[in-house]
Amino acid sequence: MSEERFMDKIIEVCLRRGFVSPTAEIYGGAGGFYDYGPLGTLMRQKIIDLWRQSFVLDEDNIFEIAGSTMLPESVFKASGHLDSFDDPLIQCEKCKSMFKADDTIKRITGTSAEGLSLDELDKIIAENKIECPSCKGPLSKARDFNLMFKTEIGSTGGIKGYLRPETAQNIFINFKRLANFMRNKLPFGIAQMGSAFRNEISPRNFLIRGREFEQMEIEMFYDPAKENEHPRFQEVADIEINIVTREMQEKGWEKLLKITAEKAVDDGIIPNQYLAYYLAMETLLLKEFGIPEDDFWFRHMQDHEAPHYSAGNFDLEANLSIGHMEIIGNALRTDYDLQKHAKATNSAFEIVSPDGKKIVPHVCEPSLGVGRIFYTVLEKCYREDERGWSWFQFPPPIAPLEVAVFPLMKKDGLAELAQEIHNELKDAGYLSYYDESGKIGKRYARADEIGIPYCVTVDYDSLKEFSITIRDRDTMKQIKLPIEDLEIALGELMDEEAGFEEFTTGEK
Ligand code: GAP
Repeated sequence: MSEERFMDKIIEVCLRRGFVSPTAEIYGGAGGFYDYGPLGTLMRQKIIDLWRQSFVLDEDNIFEIAGSTMLPESVFKASGHLDSFDDPLIQCEKCKSMFKADDTIKRITGTSAEGLSLDELDKIIAENKIECPSCKGPLSKARDFNLMFKTEIGSTGGIKGYLRPETAQNIFINFKRLANFMRNKLPFGIAQMGSAFRNEISPRNFLIRGREFEQMEIEMFYDPAKENEHPRFQEVADIEINIVTREMQEKGWEKLLKITAEKAVDDGIIPNQYLAYYLAMETLLLKEFGIPEDDFWFRHMQDHEAPHYSAGNFDLEANLSIGHMEIIGNALRTDYDLQKHAKATNSAFEIVSPDGKKIVPHVCEPSLGVGRIFYTVLEKCYREDERGWSWFQFPPPIAPLEVAVFPLMKKDGLAELAQEIHNELKDAGYLSYYDESGKIGKRYARADEIGIPYCVTVDYDSLKEFSITIRDRDTMKQIKLPIEDLEIALGELMDEEAGFEEFTTGEK
């Protein structure tokens, strides 16, 4: 199976079964924009909810905001995005197609060219005789292309505005009000989930590089003198994380460094507890999403690869069929943004500590891409086996639908009873799906294909002895249970308190 075809298989299921499709598809699409369909919307929401629960709601000192996606130019002048949020663009002199220079070099030579200067990129292109990937025509010299979408605000067009390229800036520009809300007590965090926009030169690889995408970000503000006093660090100290250090990259790494969060800080591998806390939290979250722990790691980005605002990045990369991809950015933004906005507005962005010290907080920023996580889940949960149809092994907490209810036949009152059970499951809060059409085997296959963990079948025994059959998606095993025990059993299975095996062996 070729690598390109693997992504195509996922896309095919996404289109056919209502996960994701291109925006304005009937008009030929608009490169880099996607719509989540009915199942995609359910699963995307579960991904967001799990992040929100563990990264925001479970914390006492983190609150979430919902800021505007359109911001005036002054914000991006100050933040540096107007000057520095560029990608290197090359254009074919023959067919006029445009490409991102560093991506083109990586695809052809296999080596990263991220963050290199325009001259360095031109040199590599010339040395490797790289031609237009579409028509083999000659390529122009690289030039900077600003990724922000620009517009004019108001009918007279007096004010220039930009769609935000990251959610973070709303948080920095609201810092004073937010700090007051948090009673000016460090550390505190402000989270935001929402759309970001980048006019990517060549959007590609489905949800991996879009022009509109969602981020789940936290700006965690802390006193730099207390960077190793994260209040909850001990709770994650023993979590093992996968790291690729700069030294490992220089030597050409093959094996991951597996190290606990605490040891990584003690050994100076991760700069401070705030960053290590989030690397551990992300490790736990991705495992909850069904992404195997050996399939992702945190790479210490080289200086020239880190964004203009960052004093160091440990980005989470995943091993996907299209290569190693950044899924989450983790940046130490220091006081960069607060100082820039303070200077531009001629004011002080600081916190006064209880002993009267003025502190400009430093910022640790975990920035998770919803679309990239969503795609990674699809790829890592996709299965093909002897059952003869493809299926998704989504962990029950993120499965878009949780249970399907089928009457064996439509007649003899089976459909009515199945419908009643389905309604009761919905009342109890389950995302239940009712299906009475086609052969039962077909219905199991349809449910597997979209990753429904459990199917409940109502048959003639249901009428006689009030029992139903539960079928487990992963093992295809079935058990019979009294109807009255169904809700409790499903609850235990969905919360992963009990495995299906325990029911089949009679332990339950
Ligand atoms: N506020 C920090 C920031 O925006 P970033 O590394 O540029 O950092 C963070 O982006 C995350 O946003 C990425 O790790 C990725 O998951 C997601 N992301 C960035 N550009 C994207 C794009 N064009 N399409 C889809 N997701 C993207």
